[in-house]
Amino acid sequence: MSARILIVDDERDLLMAFSRLLAGESYDVETATSAEQALELLDRVSFDLVLTDLSMPQMDGLDMLTRMRQRGDATPTLVISGNGTVEHAVRAVKLGALDFLEKPIHRERLILTVQNALRYAQLQEVHGRLQADVDHDKTLVGHGAAMQKLRALIGRVAPSDGRVLIMGENGTGKELVAAAIHAGSAGSTGHCVKLNCGAVPRDLVESELFGHEKGAFTGAVAARKGRFEVADGGTLMLDEIGDMPMPMQVKLLRVLQEGQFERVGGARTLKVDVRVIAATNRDLGAMVDDGSFREDLYYRLNVVTLHVPPLRARKEDIPLLIGHFTSPGHKGFGLRLTAEAVEALKAYDFPGNVRELENLTERMAILFPGEAVSAGLIQEVLASSGISHQKPSRGTLYESGRSLRDLLHDIERQIMVEAIAANGNSKGAAALALGTERSHFYKKCRQYGIRGADN
Ligand SMILES: Nc1ncnc2c1ncn2[C@@H]1O[C@H](COP(=O)(O)OP(=O)(O)OP(=O)(O)O)[C@@H](O)[C@H]1O
Ligand SMILES: [Mg+2]
Repeated sequence: MSARILIVDDERDLLMAFSRLLAGESYDVETATSAEQALELLDRVSFDLVLTDLSMPQMDGLDMLTRMRQRGDATPTLVISGNGTVEHAVRAVKLGALDFLEKPIHRERLILTVQNALRYAQLQEVHGRLQADVDHDKTLVGHGAAMQKLRALIGRVAPSDGRVLIMGENGTGKELVAAAIHAGSAGSTGHCVKLNCGAVPRDLVESELFGHEKGAFTGAVAARKGRFEVADGGTLMLDEIGDMPMPMQVKLLRVLQEGQFERVGGARTLKVDVRVIAATNRDLGAMVDDGSFREDLYYRLNVVTLHVPPLRARKEDIPLLIGHFTSPGHKGFGLRLTAEAVEALKAYDFPGNVRELENLTERMAILFPGEAVSAGLIQEVLASSGISHQKPSRGTLYESGRSLRDLLHDIERQIMVEAIAANGNSKGAAALALGTERSHFYKKCRQYGIRGADN
């Protein structure tokens, strides 16, 4: 998709000349003859770059830049300085302008500066994303036969750029698999963008996917890019695809078929090149049968299916996973388990899969720092684990000998974990569903060490 540039200059001749020159380089160009007009446009439409003259009759370029930054608009901006305004240009750079160009401007210089600015802005964005990923280790750990098979499949599928449907229970590592496919995509220049279809309110899914223009609906105070636009040149992971509302399934089908769409409230048709990876813990085939998922969409998404096995089907990976979660990069650093303790873990079925093992490892590192954890301790921790769906084998809850407070905490924790899982891993949605104050719910999550998405 070509970059969108806004040129601002009160001198119409110059404006036209720059505009023609950049349009000739295949940029998507819009113009404004005053700072006021530019601000109004910026409010409605998002641009990749602004190129503005500094001296203009009413509001000048410097004031415009100040206004933009004040209202949180970080669109990369280049300023053009004429005679005697170089000082202003320097101030503009201090205000966050990327660079300045001095008049008279040569065509090659302009084109090169615009190219560099766009490239720089793109790198900055990628850098931001990488930074966010740093504390999220994406290594897919496991050496058993099932994981080796999965890794081989990923290796084969990734470079093809074909669509992939990832199926697997909660917490099996579907997101890691998607990240691994993206990382192995041939010629992918963009980033891996994610949308959890189950965590977004139904009426906002469309604008999350396709973006919206200003005023498209109540609350759309500024124009915004959707996930498809942000993922251009890269991968879009549609998580919990089984939760995609029916009306949106039709719209999604169109993008998959034609690669184009419109923002909500927008007239312009946008074209993107995005690899779509969908994931679900539901049986999409059965959903097609009962009419809750479109068959045509199912086949479009499902060029290749990858099944991520549950942890209970690859228990041989448990020691390696524990090693991974207790490595210095993880919070469980410092945990020591006896050989019997590892065996006790292997005897457990992990209904919450790898996520449950990860949480458990962290919890034990907090409870027993530096101690060699015995099989007995593991059993105790597992018995009090809220995620465990195993019923106490004998005796009543009262006979467990634990305090009322502890027992109630366990039950509360279990309900919270179930609510988060049932609400697409969203803590906010779970709080809403349980009719409890969001901040209170978040606090409890921290207290119980419950994970989930902070939305
Ligand atoms: N093979 C693995 N190696 C290392 N870490 C893993 C592996 N599988 C899962 N994890 C970790 O377990 C947690 C859950 O993984 P992930 O979010 O990818 O699961 P999921 O299948 O998307 O679950 P859900 O369906 O609940 O969204 C993450 O913290 C992830 O890093
Ligand atoms: Mg997931």
